[in-house]
Amino acid sequence: MKTSVGIEALAIAVPRRYIELEDLARARGVDPEKFTIGLGCRRMAVAEPGEDSVALAATAARRLIKTSGLAPERIGMLIVGTETGVDHAKPIASHVQGLLGLPRAMRVYDTTHACYGGTAALHAACEWIASGAARGRAALVVCADIARYGCNTPGEPTQGAGAVALLVSDAPRLLAIDLGISGASSRDVYDFWRPHGRREALVDGHYSIECYLEALAGAYREWRALALAAGLIENGADALPSARLERVLYHVPFGKMARKAHAHLRRVDLEDMRGGRLDAAAEAAEAQAAAQSFARQVASSLRLCAEVGNIYTGSLYLGLAGVLDAEAAALAGRRIGLFSYGSGCCAEFFSGVVGAEAERAIRAARLAETLAARERIDVAEYERIMDLPPDRPLEEEPPPGGFRFAGVREGRRLYVAGPEAPADAARERRGGVAVGAGV
Ligand code: CAA
Repeated sequence: MKTSVGIEALAIAVPRRYIELEDLARARGVDPEKFTIGLGCRRMAVAEPGEDSVALAATAARRLIKTSGLAPERIGMLIVGTETGVDHAKPIASHVQGLLGLPRAMRVYDTTHACYGGTAALHAACEWIASGAARGRAALVVCADIARYGCNTPGEPTQGAGAVALLVSDAPRLLAIDLGISGASSRDVYDFWRPHGRREALVDGHYSIECYLEALAGAYREWRALALAAGLIENGADALPSARLERVLYHVPFGKMARKAHAHLRRVDLEDMRGGRLDAAAEAAEAQAAAQSFARQVASSLRLCAEVGNIYTGSLYLGLAGVLDAEAAALAGRRIGLFSYGSGCCAEFFSGVVGAEAERAIRAARLAETLAARERIDVAEYERIMDLPPDRPLEEEPPPGGFRFAGVREGRRLYVAGPEAPADAARERRGGVAVGAGV
């Protein structure tokens, strides 16, 4: 039984274009502050037909293999968490295996439960390694999605697209997961769903927020009981149990949701400690304390999410990438909490310890470079892209290091690969991140 298991390295892939939500608000006749402050959104990735979930997943995985120096023969499992698959039977993971030329001696499959699919994959991979069944091999977990509600819908400003690839192993340089210390909460609800054949999700928006918060309370309470029993956190008069976590990362469908979630998490702690609801004086004190706690425990995890929007399965892990990119050195050896929510619904609260080498490992992912290579588009161009048929043949050549969907022939999806990305060593010699370079 391995006891140190978790995320060794990560990489992201995002569409090459994005819009500013202030531009979208003006075009829709909405006060821009509703989107930027009310929803806490800044920019939204816009995926073209060539940038489907397979292309995004394969690009992120290719980048991870390159930047982490992972030898493909080390991989014994490849799982893609997604809710925007391209086929009812053939998994995205199988496309990724083929496009990357990975070895055949491995388990390859997709996991689906709305935005929870990536977390299901991460835990399956961790438990496979911890059990010894992996025989020293590593797992590749990729979360890839296109969040799409359609133009002129309430969900429109909360769209996005992207992929996060995670290398899961017994050398967790980024985050060692607290194995067995996790709380789950699930229930059969219709808060968000996407019937077969539809590109756009259907959502009961305000109800979905209620379901998210209720699931958070259930999952957190179970995690808290286990973490207290295991001595991972303390229950003292000076701080709430959740405040013992150095950072708390949430699934981020839109930035404000993380703020609502964090306030709710603290309320669960407070009400459980007091044995009932807060009185008026306690409410007033808590409003201020929650804002301060949000700034300390949550804010840094929203930086990358605010650049890309909702990416469904990958959203929590984009938050992880953001927090490590911002402050990995300061967090080395510290415990953080993570909350994953998938509509429908299934949620999990778990925790892990940031690795001593996390700063070096996250720098290799060159996150700023990937985001800086994007192009801003206006609302007219965004609407043109939203109107394109999903199987439209290739408009753009794939970028260096990337993949693009290239059309359907005899019912089979075709993909093309871009040339190798420029050598890492040459860039490192120039010093730091080469903003504006290709992927
Ligand atoms: N200035 C500042 N703030 C303003 C404002 C202005 N001019 N106008 C409105 N606001 C505020 C509102 O007060 C509100 O804030 P609070 O929530 O703190 O009260 C906020 O802006 C949003 O306003 P509305 O509630 O009126 O917005 P809406 O009804 O148009 O849509 C939504 C909001 C329901 C989240 C919608 O965007 C949606 O359906 N999104 C998709 C569903 C979703 O993301 N659900 C999240 C939970 S489910 C999940 O997490 C899984 C997943 O990934 C989908």
